[in-house]
Amino acid sequence: MLNIHEVVKTYLGKTAVTALAGINLRIHPGEMVAVMGPSGSGKSTLLNLMGGLDVPTSGEVIVSGTDLAKENEKERSLFRRSKVSYIFQAYHLMPTLRVTQNIALPLHLAGVHAREINLRVTRVLREVGLEARGEHLPDELSGGERQRVAIARALVTDAPLLLADEPTGNLDTVRGEEILQLLKKINREHGTTIVMVTHDHHAASACARLIRLRDGKVEGDTAHDKGQGV
Ligand SMILES: Nc1ncnc2c1ncn2[C@@H]1O[C@H](COP(=O)(O)OP(=O)(O)OP(=O)(O)O)[C@@H](O)[C@H]1O
Ligand SMILES: [Mg+2]
Repeated sequence: MLNIHEVVKTYLGKTAVTALAGINLRIHPGEMVAVMGPSGSGKSTLLNLMGGLDVPTSGEVIVSGTDLAKENEKERSLFRRSKVSYIFQAYHLMPTLRVTQNIALPLHLAGVHAREINLRVTRVLREVGLEARGEHLPDELSGGERQRVAIARALVTDAPLLLADEPTGNLDTVRGEEILQLLKKINREHGTTIVMVTHDHHAASACARLIRLRDGKVEGDTAHDKGQGV
């Protein structure tokens, strides 16, 4: 699914920052992986490379057989539309669009037919338990509900890879737990490969594998069997 080979990412600016200093990782289809590490260790940078939002300075980022490092912006944008979905800590919903419109957005961008959009939006709204909130604006929802809309928007394209950057970071324990259970269900029932950045040990323990970053390097990579519990 994902093969990260000797990846270095240096941000050039007034002072160059090496965010990733030689990363090697293999993530298999259907895995649910947590990424932890101190602030600034390169977690979001790594996720952005996996999602084709950015390219490495050197090395290979191979997703489903395609080396994103070698693709141009247009090819990567096509990849982002069909192969990967993203969930952010701050939800990133469009404030002027209703819940259904927010969820439908990636399908509109992909040119999906209106009737198909309606069917899919209805299905994912049910899946995240927000059937009754479709006509609301994001402002009219709680934090947990907003994150569920963001998850629905991620699900609606049926992308095989889901990247989540601190999806429970803004939520209280109970709402955070609901989001975790939802992600686990998606992983289990759809076989979606999930890579989730988190600061929360409980959230990490929901995943069968934990990758630890420090100073742009993989400091630890452990599988454990608690992934089915929690
Ligand atoms: N666009 C950018 N330009 C310059 N430096 C950047 C940029 N984005 C990130 N960095 C730097 O790269 C390093 C890694 O950043 P990154 O956002 O990946 O960390 P992180 O592990 O996600 O941290 P956090 O837990 O705080 O979100 C940091 O030192 C950061 O300052
Ligand atoms: Mg980050």
